[in-house]
Formats: sequence, structure tokens, C-alpha cells
Amino acid sequence: MEELTGRVAVITGGASGMGRAFADRFAAAGMNVVLGDIEEPVLAQAVTELEATGAEVLGMRCDVSDHESVLALRDATFDRFGAAHVVCLNAGVAGGGTILEQTVNSWNWVLGVNLFGIVHGLDAFLPGLVEQDEGHVLMTASIAGHLSIAGLAPYNASKHATVTIAESLYAELQEAGSRVGVSCLCPGFVATNIFTSERNRPEALLDAPVEPVDPERELARQALVEWIAANALGADTVADLVHDAVISDNFWIFTDDQHLEAVAERHGAIRERRNPVTGRLTEGLFD
Ligand SMILES: NC(=O)c1ccc[n+]([C@@H]2O[C@H](COP(=O)([O-])OP(=O)(O)OC[C@H]3O[C@@H](n4cnc5c(N)ncnc54)[C@H](O)[C@@H]3O)[C@@H](O)[C@H]2O)c1
Repeated sequence: MEELTGRVAVITGGASGMGRAFADRFAAAGMNVVLGDIEEPVLAQAVTELEATGAEVLGMRCDVSDHESVLALRDATFDRFGAAHVVCLNAGVAGGGTILEQTVNSWNWVLGVNLFGIVHGLDAFLPGLVEQDEGHVLMTASIAGHLSIAGLAPYNASKHATVTIAESLYAELQEAGSRVGVSCLCPGFVATNIFTSERNRPEALLDAPVEPVDPERELARQALVEWIAANALGADTVADLVHDAVISDNFWIFTDDQHLEAVAERHGAIRERRNPVTGRLTEGLFD
């Protein structure tokens, strides 16, 4: 999509972190912006701040794990702006723990938001994009969609699924001769609120508290959060990459090269039938 001015960007998870930065970037490019998010006070604040810049903004409570809620976001978008052009399926949550420790509630929560959020978003918005034969779908995956990081299985699974859905959609639209573009965003570490994802976990999917909390694991988590706040890429930098990828119709968006060696190592192990290389994502980070 070369021309963004006056068009409509829809962003799920648009109240915080990367989604909020996409909203700022697309509004600065002259787009009307729709934010769908589950966290209402932050959403209201985002709408106020964006409107203060002169942008036309619709903010709506939307739970992407709920099909009806995403259909309502689409209907409200069409009622207010008449169309959607750049659809960013970005809402996501992360929860840690080994597979042995996972509960079915945790799998349902992470896959419900990260995977079914994508499914519901495509079901709601793709037909309109294809019919108007103009637009772009951005799916926020992760470098975790290319690796199998110990202690993050539900998240890894949701992001591997996102990568292959994005690739499949790209292939299908190419084969159909469609002018609708697709991008797959695969960030490494970005300074956002992802590490407090539990704030948005529905009560029905809560786990019983684990007592006592493992102090070593809690310290490692805290160290990672502090490292990310101090060193990780800013969400506004990612938003620039996303804006440029939409304009240039680029499929892959990687935010840095930090983990590409690990991805190549995984591909090599698959090619040569070697056992998987293990090691946590953060190995070597604090050296
Ligand atoms: N921050 C990173 O290092 C990183 C790395 C790779 C991928 N990602 C992905 O980036 C995307 C954006 O996350 P972020 O890092 O900006 O975190 P964030 O927590 O700052 O933003 C995520 C947003 O999603 C919203 N959300 C959560 N559950 C929702 C639901 N059920 N329905 C609608 N909205 C919901 C939250 O309220 C929040 O506004 C996610 O898909 C995440 O998995 C993040």
C-alpha cells in the first residue's frame, strides 16, 4: 500500500507497547486509527492522546479471544470510517513456565489471545480487504515463532502458528493475484508491557497461585525485565519498520539480528537431522 493518507488502520492491542506505537506512527502518516484493546483505562488514555494530535480515532474495548467481540470491532470500524485498510493483528500475552508446570487454563489463555486473536481478526477483516483489493494485514509474531524456547511452550506454539498463517495467507493472496499485502513481524526484545501480561488475564483462566515462589526464577525474571527496560529496542523504532514494510510491501519484519544465528542453527539441525540445540533465549544476554 503506497498511499496511507486518509486510509484506516485497525490495531488490536493498540493501547500499549508496540500497538500504541503503530497507532502513533500511522496517525502521523495521516491515517484514521481504530484501537481495539481489552485494557480500558489505558485505551481511553491512548484515544485522548492521539486525538490531541489531530487524528481521527476510534477506541473500542475488544477481547480478541472472543469472536463476537472482534466482529463488533469490525462493524464499529465500518460504521465510523466505512472501510479498513491496514489491519494489525497485534494483541498478545506471554506466560512462562515449563510444559510440566502448564495448566490447561494457561494454554487456553495464551492460544486464545495470540492464535485465536489472529483467526478472529482474519475472519472479520480479510473478506473486506480482498473485496476492495487494497490493503495490508500485519501479524505480530515473534522471534519465538522461529525458535523453541524452553519455558515458553504455549507462547512459542502461538507464534509458530502465526508465522505459518502469515506465510500461508501471503501464498494464497499471491496465487489469487490479490493486491492485499501481508507482513509478519518477528520482534526480538522490545521495551513494552508484555512482562506484565497477567494484568489482562481473565479470572476464569487464572491459575492457582504457586507457593512458594522460586526465588531464583523470580530473580532471573526481574533481571530480564530490567535488562529489557534498559537495553531493548523502543516500540517507536519497530513502528517505523512496520510503517516502511507496509509502504514497501515487505513480508518479513525482523527488528534486529540478535537471534538470527539461533534460527539458522535450528534450521541446520533440522536439515541434518541433529537433535535440537537447547539453550534459553537469554543465554549470554548479561555477559
Ligand atoms: N515486547 C517484546 O519483546 C515482544 C517480542 C516479540 C513479540 N511480541 C509481541 O508483540 C505484540 C504486542 O505486545 P507488546 O510487547 O507491545 O506488549 P504490551 O503488553 O505492551 O501490549 C499488548 C497489548 O495487547 C492487549 N491485550 C492483551 N490481551 C488482549 C485481549 N484478549 N484482547 C485485546 N487486547 C489484548 C494488552 O492490553 C496490551 O495493550 C504481542 O503479540 C507480543 O506477543 C512482543
